[in-house]
Amino acid sequence: MIRIGPNEISCINPQAWQDIYGGHKPGQNFGKNPLWMSRKQNTANSILSASDADHHRIRRLISHAFSDKALRAQEPILQEYVGILMRRLHEQTKAGWGSAVVDLVEWFSWTTFDIVGELGFGETFGCLTDERHHSWSALVFSHFKAASLVTSVRFYPLLERFLRWWLPSPVTNRQGHFQLSREKIHRRLKGGKTTPDFMSYVLDPKNEERMSLQEIETTFNILIIAGSETTASALAGTTGYLLNNPMCLATLIQEIRSNFVEENDINLTSLGKLPYLSAVIEEGLRMAPPVPSGLPRVTPAEGGVVCGEWLPGGTDISFSQWSAYRSTLNFSRPNEFIPERWLQSNRTSQSTFDKKSTLQPFSFGPRNCIGKNLAYAELRLILSRMIWNFDLSFPKEMGAYDWAKQKTYVLVEKQPLKVRLTPRKFVKYTLD
Ligand code: HEM
Repeated sequence: MIRIGPNEISCINPQAWQDIYGGHKPGQNFGKNPLWMSRKQNTANSILSASDADHHRIRRLISHAFSDKALRAQEPILQEYVGILMRRLHEQTKAGWGSAVVDLVEWFSWTTFDIVGELGFGETFGCLTDERHHSWSALVFSHFKAASLVTSVRFYPLLERFLRWWLPSPVTNRQGHFQLSREKIHRRLKGGKTTPDFMSYVLDPKNEERMSLQEIETTFNILIIAGSETTASALAGTTGYLLNNPMCLATLIQEIRSNFVEENDINLTSLGKLPYLSAVIEEGLRMAPPVPSGLPRVTPAEGGVVCGEWLPGGTDISFSQWSAYRSTLNFSRPNEFIPERWLQSNRTSQSTFDKKSTLQPFSFGPRNCIGKNLAYAELRLILSRMIWNFDLSFPKEMGAYDWAKQKTYVLVEKQPLKVRLTPRKFVKYTLD
């Protein structure tokens, strides 16, 4: 635990996850730090900023959309979009006379964004089809960048007005993103769609608890943002480190290609049984956490205990994922990509030293990520079908991949990930 500001503590001890973010007795939870919360857009709280009581109600309502049953119903949609991604990438390699260098950061973002649009409102953004960012997806990252910069000036209340004026206008204009989501939400509310999407669970008349229209607007805005950029980051980070480590890539290739003769055999049930794929994903999330900085909380008024230390009420506190995952206090050889450390069968001293519970990329406790299982499903399907279809390598101009070279504004400002794709010889894709 270290002090990083006059009233601010940062932790990397795994016990801190439970102490800060775990459920406490009523009224004693470490609340979200109000400095980081904005309610300007329509004055209603979203799932992220709601009080504990409102959060409980909202989360119960939308949790149906993230149950195991819902995920099983969503699998055909996930497969459909991953199929479009594969087709589009095959088109690129065909146009490149057998192979192509593509920026996987873009392709992954387009895919996760299209998926969350379809699952959220039953309406794709068409990024994969158009091969470009939708005006909304282009605004997603700037939303977070804006939130971080606007928050950082709030640390200097006397100078806030002056500093806000100095911020570039695209940063302060977060309203654009919100307006686009509001239009989409209202179209969906009027449309009377019958196939299930996230919205249909919220609108289900059987649910006695309700969300106000404003809460729906803010929460669905957050859902789209939280569900697209993060998963794309995990895909990019994991792929980058796999390509840095040919032995790990070869082991994963062996696992995927020996288990699936036909691409159609790849499904979530069969993928859940592949230990090396799961280990690669865990290690990717450790080396390249999509939410690397601390999730800001405040100790309750009567104070609280974190890692055995009593802290007075009103202390700002967070768990820093990036620092924790790269610390020798928690992991042996922390800067090396070693998926084997996550294999149950691995009983080496290195693996037993690692404090596995440190890794909580989806956070912990009652306000952890509601989309965790969906995210794992996307990661498994996209990584495995990429490996099944293509041989991947870095083009010469791309040096060793390093997640740490990118900037963080709550989320990571991803740099291009240029990868050469060569279809496996016998794979014949029908291109439209
Ligand atoms: C690898 C992918 C993902 C990562 C690493 C991730 C990470 C996180 C983290 C760390 C939080 C806690 C935020 C906080 O405490 O302030 C969170 C919350 C949340 N995430 Fe994710 N997320 C991912 C994917 C998704 C997906 C696919 C969705 C939905 C489509 C989603 C929806 C949400 C929502 C709605 C919350 C707020 C939950 C609440 O407050 O109850 N996330 N996520």
